[in-house]
Amino acid sequence: MDKEYKIPKHVGIIMDGNGRWATKKGLKRSAGHAAGYKTLKKLAVHILNRGVKYLSVYAFSTENFKRDAEEVNYLMDLFVNKFREDKNFFMKKNIKVIFSGLKEPLRNDVWESMQEISEMTKNNDGGIFNILLNYGGQNELVEATKKIVNDVITDKINIEELNTENFYHYLFQDLPPIDLMIRTSGEVRVSNFMLYQIAYAEMYFPKVYFPDFNEKEFDKALDVYNKRDRRFGGIKK
Ligand code: IPE
Ligand code: IPE
Ligand code: MG
Repeated sequence: MDKEYKIPKHVGIIMDGNGRWATKKGLKRSAGHAAGYKTLKKLAVHILNRGVKYLSVYAFSTENFKRDAEEVNYLMDLFVNKFREDKNFFMKKNIKVIFSGLKEPLRNDVWESMQEISEMTKNNDGGIFNILLNYGGQNELVEATKKIVNDVITDKINIEELNTENFYHYLFQDLPPIDLMIRTSGEVRVSNFMLYQIAYAEMYFPKVYFPDFNEKEFDKALDVYNKRDRRFGGIKK
């Protein structure tokens, strides 16, 4: 009997290789980021149309502030411009846009554009698009710990009630665990991406740079995912 085709509920993508994509073409790194955004816009719609309920994408890590001011500013401008420009696009596609990460040290205009798009799309129910911006996984766990300590000292929870399930409520966004994690560009590392949520994720590391990770490439990832045997520590029957 044919097993039915499995669609992961939550997909995570570490969008890596924009800079190398551009350099290889003799372009500036910024051109790679612009191309990466174009790819992301199409890809997000495709992935959520395939039946994935939650898509989390790594757009900017807390560590990415180490880059030159020119590149950081280019990326911040790109975020502001695209969130403002594409609010209506995501409305039309019925996609709810949310963010994970901290406000500081983001520029005010970046933070405001994030608020605007998430406010506008908050009632959409055609899939959740979680953008990780100024995000770090260790940071998320430290922030969660602070919230928990606060809830304990203000008697909101009894410390004994805390468990691996309700721990998710304390993360930046309360989303299910990641089923499929993809990192483009051939790098095989996690780089501080959703450390709690990837505990049992299947991982896929295609060689293509992110701007070339199109709908067809994603469908290949789905095929690979379907061949994986997820055991969660149990034994195959
Ligand atoms: C990913 O591409 C985008 C961000 C980190 C913002 P990179 O900019 O890391 O591209 P490479 O890894 O240098 O090629
Ligand atoms: C991870 O990519 C962060 C994002 C994709 C936003 P990096 O390019 O920053 O990661 P490292 O430095 O290669 O680990
Ligand atoms: Mg990189």
